[in-house]
Amino acid sequence: MIGIFDSGSGGLTVLKAIREQMPSADSLYFGDIKNAPYGSKSTNELSVLTVHAIELLQKRGAESIVSACNSVSASLAISLFDALSLAPDHLIEMVGPTVNSFKNSSARLLLVATPATINSEIYQNAFRMIGKDVAVVAIPDLASSIEFGSSEEEIETIIRNAFKDVPLNEFDVLILACTHYPLVETIFARVLPNSITLFDPAFAVGERVKKQLWPREVGDGTTRFIISTDSQHFRARVAGLLPEGGFSIEVLD
Ligand code: DGL
Repeated sequence: MIGIFDSGSGGLTVLKAIREQMPSADSLYFGDIKNAPYGSKSTNELSVLTVHAIELLQKRGAESIVSACNSVSASLAISLFDALSLAPDHLIEMVGPTVNSFKNSSARLLLVATPATINSEIYQNAFRMIGKDVAVVAIPDLASSIEFGSSEEEIETIIRNAFKDVPLNEFDVLILACTHYPLVETIFARVLPNSITLFDPAFAVGERVKKQLWPREVGDGTTRFIISTDSQHFRARVAGLLPEGGFSIEVLD
């Protein structure tokens, strides 16, 4: 079974890609809504939450883990593998597959993410390692506004303000490096010039999951959810993702 986690609904964009790539894999999704947003937390806080999420998924039977949260990527240190008895090839995170997608690209890259992701410099360092420049913009309140159901107008204002001082004509691609952001991709598209292509890393992560976990993770395609506090917004998004039903949602609170 594949365990997937995020601070809330963002990782559903990754779950969708995984289900498309590996429909027969069983998945268990943990949304830590009680502690959302992750993107404004310190590295220490995020490390504790990361260990907690992975342990919870392992206790419920997950043998492979997908971190569907960019903000915790800096916490996924080598030491974690030993502490959690997790083999390195049983963990997939966001940064590697995302950066790898641009290896052979000459596009001028702009990346948006939470403050935790930008401050960790994990993307800046990873792009540097493949000899690429990336400009970055942190959007402090966006993930939580999406998670807790702010209006379209409010979300559009947050996005417009974030790009106020950015010379958008200097970029070809905008990387949505927070898994919540693709949930409002249409608003990004409205705010940005047509010359900028939006990049949602979910597909690249789904491909990586298949490459690494197929055929080890073959089941009957069951999908279960655990959330750390109840949320009608989360329930509505899951219902939209799986209109055929057949899933369960457990609330830990
Ligand atoms: N969706 C997560 C990410 O990719 C977390 C966002 C948040 O909770 O702030 O960073």
